[in-house]
Amino acid sequence: FSSAAAHIQRNPAYSVLNPDDVSYFKSILGESGVVQDEDRVAVANVDWMGKYKGASQLLLLPKSTTEVSKILSYCNSRRLAVVPQGGNTGLVGGSVPVYDEVNGILTCEAGCVLENLSSFVENKGFIMPLDLGAKGSCHIGGNISTNAGGLRFIRYGSLHGSVLGLEVVLANGTVLDMLTTLRKDNTGYDLKHLFIGSEGSLGVVTKVAILTPAKLPSTNVAFLSCNDYISCQKLLLAAKRSLGEILSAFEFMDRHCIDLAMKHLEGVHNPLPVSPYKFYVLIETTGSDESNDKAKLEAFLLRSMEDGLVADGVIAQDISQASNFWRIREGISEASVKVGAVYKYDLSIPVEKLYDIVEEMRGRVGDMGEVLGYGHLGDGNLHLNILSTKYSDKILAQIEPFVYEWTSKQRGSISAEHGLGLMKAEKIHYSKSSEAVQLMASIKKLLDPNSILNPYKVLPQSVL
Ligand code: FAD
Ligand code: MLT
Ligand code: ZN
Repeated sequence: FSSAAAHIQRNPAYSVLNPDDVSYFKSILGESGVVQDEDRVAVANVDWMGKYKGASQLLLLPKSTTEVSKILSYCNSRRLAVVPQGGNTGLVGGSVPVYDEVNGILTCEAGCVLENLSSFVENKGFIMPLDLGAKGSCHIGGNISTNAGGLRFIRYGSLHGSVLGLEVVLANGTVLDMLTTLRKDNTGYDLKHLFIGSEGSLGVVTKVAILTPAKLPSTNVAFLSCNDYISCQKLLLAAKRSLGEILSAFEFMDRHCIDLAMKHLEGVHNPLPVSPYKFYVLIETTGSDESNDKAKLEAFLLRSMEDGLVADGVIAQDISQASNFWRIREGISEASVKVGAVYKYDLSIPVEKLYDIVEEMRGRVGDMGEVLGYGHLGDGNLHLNILSTKYSDKILAQIEPFVYEWTSKQRGSISAEHGLGLMKAEKIHYSKSSEAVQLMASIKKLLDPNSILNPYKVLPQSVL
């Protein structure tokens, strides 16, 4: 790997790909399943931000569990390193979902794109329990492997709750069938949880059974502004109390995010243009009673304004206004990468303290970079982005290890929902005890003794 943020020495224990390997892969996947074209392989070697660059020479496109199993069994015996990939390139291929309408359970292959699954289940009167800005390209297998959180977490919780079953191929090619569709099953250890959020380091997810909530008829979205962070906190508490069971999103962003979105995103406009407020909050409600739900949100907004928590606010009157509100929030990451270099941190911090680090970071970075604070406030999840025109060691030294030490002191998490990947593999100790990391390493060694799956990611090299 080479990147602005990490330099990894290739582990010489791994074999180097040779022409016989390529012939073998062609024998199981056919010519079209084995990609050597330099341009296509190059795309798969770069992450979405263009920050991390790998050096894989070959891209394989298996279409079935059997093909994944044959690839892994071969790579394990040859000790060839493998990086499972979902939305970056569509590694696992297209597929046909199956649906149990009585119980609302979707069973599908890992290569399904999240947005396609959403449309599929919506046609049947259900929704996916997760939604994120990358929905058009991320795969459900990638979502599960990262334990993606996203915009509906506040209402439907973690994938650890919604995923009912998985099929996973282990490093040696063994197919582990855990694809049950039962709500309750206390027979022994619940092994699927090991693979949810393990970022491709323990196995390749090939099939998924997931619980989908009913699609409710009334959705309302409000875009509000607050003059200070304490008002955002009070507003969250008030929203939980007053909107209760219909609250389906509580997202926040500071003024810097709005300015950035207005500058870089096409076709969006600021719904509250009159004054530059310090903070903005997007609240969504989803319920089953159209007139009551709307009245509830309107009354909440009025009360919050009277109480001085909200400076100004607007409720979307149609789908196009609602999608403009969402586009602003979901487009922050897209707008960020247009600046050039993004130092991205994804922290879980108690809500009362959550914005302190944004302000401290602004003081540290000064005019070297622009600091954004946004995220899933309802889940205590801050996205702290530091933007600059290009990567520099000087900025990085102002950010790290400060950001990790600060978070650790609050007993927060250095990765709320994005995972550790390459960026934070060596930083895990800021959020996990050495005993916990040792146990993780033992599990890794048990399931992947040759360490062929996703090398250099998730766990520190020193424990493997
Ligand atoms: P990839 O990027 O291809 O892979 C991610 C990891 O999973 C890698 O470690 C890979 O090895 C592993 N992996 C992928 N597929 C498999 C598989 N089948 N089996 C085993 N391992 C596998 N994340 C959030 O949590 N919340 C958000 O709100 C959110 N919003 C985003 C918005 C944008 C615009 C972008 C670009 C990203 C966002 N993300 C978010 C991060 C990312 O989209 C999610 O983590 C997503 O779940 C990754 O899916 P993917 O298919 O793209 O996986
Ligand atoms: C988000 O909530 O927008 C995402 O997790 C993506 C990001 O922070 O870039
Ligand atoms: Zn997020």
